[in-house]
Order: sequence, then structure tokens, then C-alpha cells
Amino acid sequence: MYHKELKPFPQDFLWSASTSAYQVEGAWDEDGRGPIAIDLKKDLPEGTSDYKVAADQYHRYKEDIALMAELGFRAHRFSIAWSRIIPDGDGEINPKGIEYYHNFIDELLAQNIEPIVTMFHFDTPIALDEKGGWASRTTTDAFVRYAEVLFKEYGSKVKYWLTINEQNMMILHGHKLGIITTTSDDPDKELYQINHNMFLAQAKTMAMLHQMHPEAKIGPAPNISYVYPASSKPEDVIAADNYNAVRNWLYLDLAVRGEYNTLAWAYLEEHGWAPTIEEGDLEILKSARPDFIAFNYYNTTTMADAPLGGGASERSEDADQQIAEGEEGYFKAVSNPHLQMTDFGWEIDPVGMRMTYRAIWDRYRLPLIVTENGLGAFDQLTDDGRVHDDYRIEYLRKHLEQTQEAITDGVEILGYSPWTAIDVVSTHQGVAKRYGFIYVNRDEFDLKDLARYRKDSFFWYQQLIQTNELPP
Ligand code: BG6
Repeated sequence: MYHKELKPFPQDFLWSASTSAYQVEGAWDEDGRGPIAIDLKKDLPEGTSDYKVAADQYHRYKEDIALMAELGFRAHRFSIAWSRIIPDGDGEINPKGIEYYHNFIDELLAQNIEPIVTMFHFDTPIALDEKGGWASRTTTDAFVRYAEVLFKEYGSKVKYWLTINEQNMMILHGHKLGIITTTSDDPDKELYQINHNMFLAQAKTMAMLHQMHPEAKIGPAPNISYVYPASSKPEDVIAADNYNAVRNWLYLDLAVRGEYNTLAWAYLEEHGWAPTIEEGDLEILKSARPDFIAFNYYNTTTMADAPLGGGASERSEDADQQIAEGEEGYFKAVSNPHLQMTDFGWEIDPVGMRMTYRAIWDRYRLPLIVTENGLGAFDQLTDDGRVHDDYRIEYLRKHLEQTQEAITDGVEILGYSPWTAIDVVSTHQGVAKRYGFIYVNRDEFDLKDLARYRKDSFFWYQQLIQTNELPP
């Protein structure tokens, strides 16, 4: 297929950028916020900061939102910290936490920036972990109550809601990121029970929002990236298809169709990991429908056939959200020789993003919002008070070209919210791995003055939003 003319971005396209509470806010124990697992994690990867101060946005949100307005964001995706709203997860409501997000949302609205709220981004209150965490339905119920509080408080101000950030990555890589706690001696089985309980929480929440605020919209926010076969060898194609089911479609089939993906369910049964499904669960899952699909995209995965004895992955030791683990006997993760990598070893695949858009659209026919995409790099602040991040501009440009290709292909895309609006602390690679349009002046362990600086990408994105087209 050859397009001479690409379709333009829609006039009301939601140009945005993202953050998450524990990675940006800091103020970890202020104003009644309860602790989360990662606050107390002792074995953070060597040389990386904790999250106690992060970008200190809790104290500087007005300045940050003013910069976002100057850049021209039409929307901003951020997450609400459950443990600021209900410090122990299911007990007393914390008025200071409620107030903080009212102020934050009001500030965005005053600047004509549409809030896109993630309800849960990796930060389970630790008090719930101590009661069995997500493996227990106490947490499912607590989440639904938390959601009700959010909808009552902010439902008339917020039009776009996201339930759970990257549930699939919490299940596949949560241990590595220090964001999922399991206690049983069969952790994989427990993980898939956690998964099931999260699906129930999500379904109940989506149905509740529709009842409480019919005009508002809600969707899931998994990390979706298309899985390629390593070659046209039929066994490689089957391996890729199987991994697509386990990594991607399991999550979206449940969120959108309310049912377990057949291939993924067969995989779970074969391992003895199928969750316990209680009476009424399937009806709950079926009862909810999202209004859109939000997804995070960084790159694709490539899988080969994995005969026993052949290893699971070429890069098991590096495995994280974007470097697949593979599994001997099922799918072997291999590098894609056609792709370059970031400084942190993540493959870069803009065309794969077009493929991912098409695959999701073909399967579900729901409008899409990209809620993360971006380049983690070792940015340097220069003497002119700028960061010359032409590499980031290049990365974003290529992904947006492919987004325009996908729009031209007929995919309905509502918005683009790259990671991140402002530098945050990475999930496991510290402050040095920066993604923002706005630089935060701090190092791993030296907090300096935490001042904000505009990167070159700030001005590039500003121009793009003003003109609604990619700068020449
Ligand atoms: C996603 C998460 O997995 O990727 C974010 O939703 C995260 O929380 C982002 O920060 C980038 O990953 P990392 O590991 O570079 O911080």
C-alpha cells in the first residue's frame, strides 16, 4: 500500500504527556500519604535513587502545570496515588490527599488542559499487601471503594479515566520492578490469581463510572506491543502467536470482551496457573465495556520457537517491561536484527507501532489513546540552560509519522501522551534515565535545586501542537 498523502491529525487530537504519582510527586510521607512497597524497598538497583523526593512535583505542581500550559498540552495524563486518598487502602479517607488532587485538577482545567487520570499506577498501599495484596479479594473490594471515592470527588471534572496501568507488566515483570508482592510457594499461580482479581476490579470500576457519570469515559491501559515471529518458519509463527496471546490479548480480551483469551487460558491450564473463578465472576467480567483502549508502546518483541534445552531468551538477565523473558518449551525471545537500541538496550521500532495500532484496531474497533511512548536517555544540561535532545525529537517524530500512517490506514486515534511530561525516576534505572520535555535538575543522590529547564524537545513539541502537524 502506498500513500501519497497522509491524513492530518484530527483537530481535537489530545496532545498530551504522561507521568505517574510515585515517580514524579515525592513528598512520600507528607500530609498523611500511606507507604507503598517501593517506598520501603531495600534492594533498589545499585546506584539508583529511591522515590522519596522524585521530581518534587507535590510541592511544585503549579510551576509544572504552568510549563505544560506554555508548551501547549491539550491534555495531561497523571496518576492519583491511592495511598494519598486512603492511606491504608481501605480505611479512613485522607482529606489532604483529596484536596491535593482537587487543586491539581483545577489547575489543569484553569489552563485548558484536559486531565487524563490513571487510577492505579504500580502503587498498592502497603497495608493492603500486608493483608494478602491483590491475591486477596480484600484488595479488589478496596480498589472498588477507592474508585467510588475518586468518581464522587472528581467525576464531574475528569472526562478520561484509565483503570490500571500496565497490568500485564505487573504480572510478567512486577517482581523485577518491586511493585508486586507474592507470598505463596507457587508465585506464578498466585500472580494469575492477582491478575484475575485485578480484572474483576477493573470491570466493576468501569461499570460504576458509567453508572455514576454517563458522560465520562474509561479504558484499560496495558502495555501492548506487537509480537513478531523470528522468521517465516511455521513454528516461529506459532511461538509469536502464543506470546501475543499471553502478553497482549489476554489483557485486552478481558477488558473489552469480558472473556479469557482461549490460547492464554490453555497456557495457564497447562502450567497449573489457571485462577480460581468464583460464582458470578464471569458475569462481572462480561458486564463492563471500556469506551476506548489506552495503551503504552515502547517497542515490539520478537519470538522464536523454543525447543527444550534451547534457552528462553537471548537476554534473560536484562529482562524488564520491554525486554522479554521468553520461556523454554514455549517461546524464545530473540533480538530483532533490523532494529536499533536505546542507551538502555530497548529496541526502537516506530513501524512496529503502526502494526500495533492496526492489530488492536482490527481486533476491537475501539478508539485508541497512546498513554506512553518515549525515549529514555542520559540527557545533559548544557551551559545555555538547555538539553539538546535531538535524539528524542527524532524518536518522537518517527513514532508520530507512523501514528499518522495508522490514522491514514483508518485507525481511530484520540490522542498521544508520551512518557514523560517532566523527568521522573525510572521504574528501575534511576534518575539518569530521563524521558521528559522538561528537565529536572537533580542527580541520583544529589538533589541540587530541582529547578526546571526546557529541553529542545519542549519547543519541538510546542510547535507540533500549535500547528497540529509534524514540524518540517
Ligand atoms: C512503563 C511504566 O512500563 O514504562 C512507567 O508505565 C515507566 O511507569 C515507563 O516509567 C518507562 O520505563 P522505565 O523502566 O524506563 O522507567
